[in-house]
Amino acid sequence: MHEHSRREFLALTAAVGAAGLVTPHGFGSELSRAGRDELTQAANPQVVSAGNQVVRIGLIGCGGRGSGAANDTLTANKNVRIVAMADIDLAKAKVARDALKAEHGERVDVTDERIFGGIDGYQKVIDLKDVDLVILATAPGFRPIHIAAAVGAKKHVFAEKPVCVDTAGYRVCCAAHDLAKSQGTAIVTGTQYRRQPSFIEGIKRIREGMIGEVVGMTARYCSNGIWYRERLPGMSDMEYQIYNWMHFIWLSGDQIAEQAVHNIDVIHWVMGGPPVRAFASGSRWNRPADSEMWDSISCDFEFANGRICSFTGRHWPNADNQLDNVVYGSRGIAYLRAFDAGTQIFDHAGNELFSIKGNLGAAYRQEHKECVESIIVKKPIVELRQTAESSMMAVMGREAAYSGQIATWDFMTKQSKLDLMPKLVTIPGDAPAPFVRKPGEYRLQ
Ligand SMILES: NC(=O)c1ccc[n+]([C@@H]2O[C@H](COP(=O)([O-])OP(=O)(O)OC[C@H]3O[C@@H](n4cnc5c(N)ncnc54)[C@H](O)[C@@H]3O)[C@@H](O)[C@H]2O)c1
Repeated sequence: MHEHSRREFLALTAAVGAAGLVTPHGFGSELSRAGRDELTQAANPQVVSAGNQVVRIGLIGCGGRGSGAANDTLTANKNVRIVAMADIDLAKAKVARDALKAEHGERVDVTDERIFGGIDGYQKVIDLKDVDLVILATAPGFRPIHIAAAVGAKKHVFAEKPVCVDTAGYRVCCAAHDLAKSQGTAIVTGTQYRRQPSFIEGIKRIREGMIGEVVGMTARYCSNGIWYRERLPGMSDMEYQIYNWMHFIWLSGDQIAEQAVHNIDVIHWVMGGPPVRAFASGSRWNRPADSEMWDSISCDFEFANGRICSFTGRHWPNADNQLDNVVYGSRGIAYLRAFDAGTQIFDHAGNELFSIKGNLGAAYRQEHKECVESIIVKKPIVELRQTAESSMMAVMGREAAYSGQIATWDFMTKQSKLDLMPKLVTIPGDAPAPFVRKPGEYRLQ
């Protein structure tokens, strides 16, 4: 494995493309992490063209959420078109394109020449001069690379969560946030609770003092499990890991990052920023043999003045589900419930002080509405740092559990060398050997 500079990377990709290296599953070519290491504006300096009132969107990652996000933005915004698409699996991208076209007609204007497969397909979408906004919805491990490339090319970005799964990715996101702010391009993230009135109104009342001083929180993401995709015949290790990405930490970040970042983001929101340190625990007994995921992780995030916000996450079959958030105050208690369940606030005598229903579907559309409107009115929303911090809180909790050590925010963000992305991702190719982190053996790094 070798590290390549960006220029070497581009030359390499072109050479591989010329050699026609395509696997049985339609994947192709190579990716180094150069795009993540070098955040450059030079590659594609076209002026963002959103002022023409139609926002032209490239969709990168055409699975469940990518297709859902495209549908959400087309539903929420009259003035958007999907004009290019990429997925490592070209056939999957075409199926997604056809389904979106059946639903939204000519607003999905993606000819076969503008739909790309392979690991470098994302770059081909970003290189298209007429793409204003990219939606990034691949496996999360690639997100910092894709964000860096898109922001470097002055594209507006909608990035699904989590936005990073390690410290190296976190730092890229922080740099991308600053660059987007300085050049005036949007980055909105897929943390839809931030656009759900039940959360917005509930947290507003908490801030206004309805429950007194916030003394702590509980947040839970406890569900029965998650998908596992069996290896298909002929897949190389790398193809298989990307296909079954949930189970490999460099790609998903484990449940605490991939799913529970929503709840951890609520902790970040209520507490107004990241914690000082994390103490965590967890278990691993039920996953398929080659999965790197743990079955459960619980983490106490400690904030200033010793206030503890506890997160509990688990994938346990046939167990009770719980995905709510509870905020404890000196005068009352607020339930910020998941999905559509809404918010209720009580005083300590049990009197209801506030109640509002939730509507998750509307929040999924609202985030795309606000993203596009902010581009149109030239007041781009840039919120990557906030979601990078929430994603990094999840990483911090995970690493504290894996190692059994207390992880501080300062260490994890300033000193840690945690960088999970393989130096070179080749399709077909080798992948990092899966392993389960064991506390006592595994250390913070
Ligand atoms: N905001 C939410 O509530 C929400 C809900 C579901 C998923 N998500 C997020 O959306 C992302 C995608 O999840 P999903 O459920 O759609 O997964 P998915 O497996 O259905 O889709 C991911 C797609 O990305 C493609 N892909 C993977 N790596 C790629 C790469 N390097 N380049 C191009 N394509 C690549 C895969 O082939 C697949 O089609 C994840 O980050 C997930 O956490 C968010």
